[in-house]
Formats: sequence, structure tokens, C-alpha cells
Amino acid sequence: ENTVILSPSLLSSDFSRLGEELAMLEDAGVEWVHWDVMDGQFVPNITFGSPVIKACRKQSKLFFDVHLMIDNPGRYIKEFADAGADLICVHAESETHLERTVAEIANHGVRPAVAINPHTSLSAVQYLLPQLYMVLVMSVNPGFGGQSFIPFSIDKIRTLARMIKMHEADTLIQVDGGVTPANIAELHHAGADVFVSGSAFFGEPPYDKRLETFMEAACA
Ligand code: DX5
Ligand code: ZN
Repeated sequence: ENTVILSPSLLSSDFSRLGEELAMLEDAGVEWVHWDVMDGQFVPNITFGSPVIKACRKQSKLFFDVHLMIDNPGRYIKEFADAGADLICVHAESETHLERTVAEIANHGVRPAVAINPHTSLSAVQYLLPQLYMVLVMSVNPGFGGQSFIPFSIDKIRTLARMIKMHEADTLIQVDGGVTPANIAELHHAGADVFVSGSAFFGEPPYDKRLETFMEAACA
């Protein structure tokens, strides 16, 4: 597989100019954008909810990759689907009835994904792989941007890639947390397809140059 998709995390963008940020990303040639929804319960931090995503949906053609870091996300699938999410990712740790929530995402015509925290075993997603468009391997403890990459995540990605192949699924692997041009090649070789970057992407404009740097580094 040779998929390389960069999904810049708006968590590190300027929240007072979200519309302009989205337009600049689109002009730079970015295809996906990552929305970090946090509720102050599942993670310590609070960011934004579906009304903000809905307002921005009207101004952007980007693929909206929505990462829900909230308790019992099953309660809010319809809301985020109606807001215009292209993909909804829920945490295995936050949902008791994960299979049902994944099915509900798909029933709304949205691509379903499951995220797992660094300590969570891959067995949490094993039986759902045929239903999943993507698995998100968290490489930091979620809640904040700018944290450093947890090295054992590489091994986890490698094992997950093998597991996906064994199940003959075509599930994408996303990695989120501490991704930089310095580690993206190793992550890609391990089997990751979609790379989230917050601080390392937004910290060094212009965005077109930054996208190029990440893409070239991934394939090096
Ligand atoms: C962490 C979020 C990430 C975050 C990544 O809780 O899920 O998407 O924005 O930020 P960096 O790339 O700075 O680690
Ligand atoms: Zn995220």
C-alpha cells in the first residue's frame, strides 16, 4: 500500500480565523483536515463541538476527519453527521457498545473509524476491522497538541498492519500525536497511511511548503 494522506489538526490553528485557515489549507493542496473535539471529561481539555464544524462545512470542500474525544460518543453521531463530517472517529475506551456506534456512523453515510489510546490493546478493534474505514493509533495521550511521540506506537502500527492484512480488510491506519517530518518515514514504513499533524504543521508556514516537506519526508 502506498497511501500517504496528511490531515492537519486544527487544534494548532488560529481558532479566531477558522474559515481563513480552511481556505489556506485548501489552496495549499491539503485534502483532509482533522477536527479534535474534546469534552473536558474523556480528556482534560475542551475545544469545540458540532456547531463550529457545521458553520465551517459551508465554506470548505476539504475531507472533514472528525476525532471525537468525548464520553459516550454514541449520543452524538447524528449531530456530527448532520454537521457535515466525512469521517467520524470514536474512542474504543469511551464507548461500551462500540459495534453499534460504528454501525450507526456507517448508517448515516459517514466513514467509521475507531481510535485507541497508547495503552489500549489492538484486540479492541480486531473484530471490527471489516466494518472500519480507518483505525487511529494514538501516539500520545489525547488532550493536547505539542506532546512528544510515544515510541512503542511504531510497533503497534506494524502489528495492526499485519492484522489488517490477515483479515483481508482494507482499513486505513492513522497515527496522531507527535508526528513530524523526522518520524513520518518510519511510521509510513511501519504501515501508517494517514498522518495527523498539529504543532509541527501549523508551526511552520507557508502551508504549501509544509505539506511538501511532510509528503517528501514520508516517501524518503
Ligand atoms: C491530541 C490530538 C491531536 C493533536 C496532535 O489529543 O488528538 O490531533 O492535535 O497535535 P501534535 O501534532 O502537535 O502532537
Ligand atoms: Zn486528533
